[in-house]
Amino acid sequence: MTTPAPVAPVVIGIDVGGTTIKAALVDPGTGELASERRVVPTPRPATPAAVLDEVAALVADLARHPVVPVGVALPAVVRDGVVGSAANIDASWIGLAVETSLRERLGRPVVVVNDADAAGVAEATFGPVDARCGVTLVTTLGTGIGSALLVDGTLVPNTELGHLPVDGAPAERLAATSAMHRDGLSWEAWAERLTTYYRTVELLLAPDRIIVGGAVSASADRFLPLVRVSTPLVAATLGNDAGVVGAALLALRHAPDGWAVPGRWAQPMRQVRG
Ligand code: BGC
Repeated sequence: MTTPAPVAPVVIGIDVGGTTIKAALVDPGTGELASERRVVPTPRPATPAAVLDEVAALVADLARHPVVPVGVALPAVVRDGVVGSAANIDASWIGLAVETSLRERLGRPVVVVNDADAAGVAEATFGPVDARCGVTLVTTLGTGIGSALLVDGTLVPNTELGHLPVDGAPAERLAATSAMHRDGLSWEAWAERLTTYYRTVELLLAPDRIIVGGAVSASADRFLPLVRVSTPLVAATLGNDAGVVGAALLALRHAPDGWAVPGRWAQPMRQVRG
């Protein structure tokens, strides 16, 4: 008789943003939230110590059972659990082995990934198009521009296409949602900037489709039809929950061997570790 593998019926997803930290229990089989969403302000300054205190408090609040895995999304390059960049967070994050230190602190499986990679995996798994064929680019428009590139469903992590130089500046300075607010742009004027950005992206990558996410995707009908590119542009559907859901998916995907993976999420989507 074999012992059944442990099943994680829910996973904790946490999305650290510039303004708020969002967290919830996630059902990895459906991508739905299995608890109320917790939202707390991101501490200022957003030093690692201050942010990780908030993360630990959210985990304690959400699940007292020690084996529930945790996925954390950060707005930074994260390679093998170590932070590699800090465009919109405190510079003291760079070089931090955040995954190891959180694992020790929380005493449970923890995976830390880039926020756009998390959102991209969630959109590609539960979103508007099946991303298991061809080249899918997911972009998140917000304070910065995040990107997740998936090739036949495999994530190519940490692509950072928000930092492509466009008109002599990083694209996110020109075309993120924050740039629209900062410069008081109309939807039409912002769409012009997005056209410039997405044309650069399609010239370099020729993706089969681009999914446009971030909170502003709820107003996609105001600007997406005005963006003039030849690649199909599709509005994301998970909105503000994409980072939380994707962080949870990636946490379970990289959880220790022997964990059972329930539902649709178990279908093969090979992943390169982010
Ligand atoms: C960061 C990315 C992040 C994106 C969205 C950019 O400034 O460099 O790592 O994914 O913002 O938060």
